[in-house]
Amino acid sequence: MNVLLLGGSPSAPSTTWRLLQLVGTRLAALGHRSAALQVRELPALALLRADLHDPAIEQAAALVREADAIVIGTPVYKASFSGVLKAFLDLLPQDGLAGKLVLPLATGGSQSHMLALDYALRPVLASLAPRHVLPSIYATSEQLPRDAEGSLVPVPAIAARIDAGVEQLAHELQQLVLRRAAAPQPAQAPASEAAPAPIPA
Ligand SMILES: Cc1cc2nc3c(=O)[nH]c(=O)nc-3n(C[C@H](O)[C@H](O)[C@H](O)COP(=O)(O)O)c2cc1C
Repeated sequence: MNVLLLGGSPSAPSTTWRLLQLVGTRLAALGHRSAALQVRELPALALLRADLHDPAIEQAAALVREADAIVIGTPVYKASFSGVLKAFLDLLPQDGLAGKLVLPLATGGSQSHMLALDYALRPVLASLAPRHVLPSIYATSEQLPRDAEGSLVPVPAIAARIDAGVEQLAHELQQLVLRRAAAPQPAQAPASEAAPAPIPA
């Protein structure tokens, strides 16, 4: 199954991206490898002008299209999700998340805007027709201290929330595998129907 870590922070280094990487590491421990996409690395002008023919934008859209699950992370900016992430989501087709699982997460400066994911991002995700948007994960900078190497060491409450989110995502991915394996394969047309007879010269 394809998992995509989609980072929506314009900053580098980014606490949100570190949190996404942590989720990616946990998923890898459960056997799910993930691809990575940071919106900030896309060409700014193409993003602003919604240039769907830009090769980097096309490539990014393909990563989304091919993903079975997307872990989408954003910093809280001005009580909402980031503008660069919105610019990218606006480029996706109307059913751009069809059939996909989505785990949203955000980092913020305070608890005041912990509902931003639910009142701002979730409706946008829902409009893109995902299979299921899982419960959100929100952490403040204070809840995400770092060790000497700079890796995040979330406080226990957030670590537990991350574990629960990752386990639920892994479980739903497994259900998706089983559902796909059980789905009836499209019937093969008889050879006479499949290949039209050659037109005599
Ligand atoms: C322009 C700007 C606006 C912000 N607005 C908010 C806000 O409204 N509420 C909040 O809790 N934090 C706010 N913050 C703090 C960031 O959400 C927080 O530092 C976040 O972890 C940054 O993530 P990043 O390093 O991935 O960009 C803001 C930060 C910036 C730079």
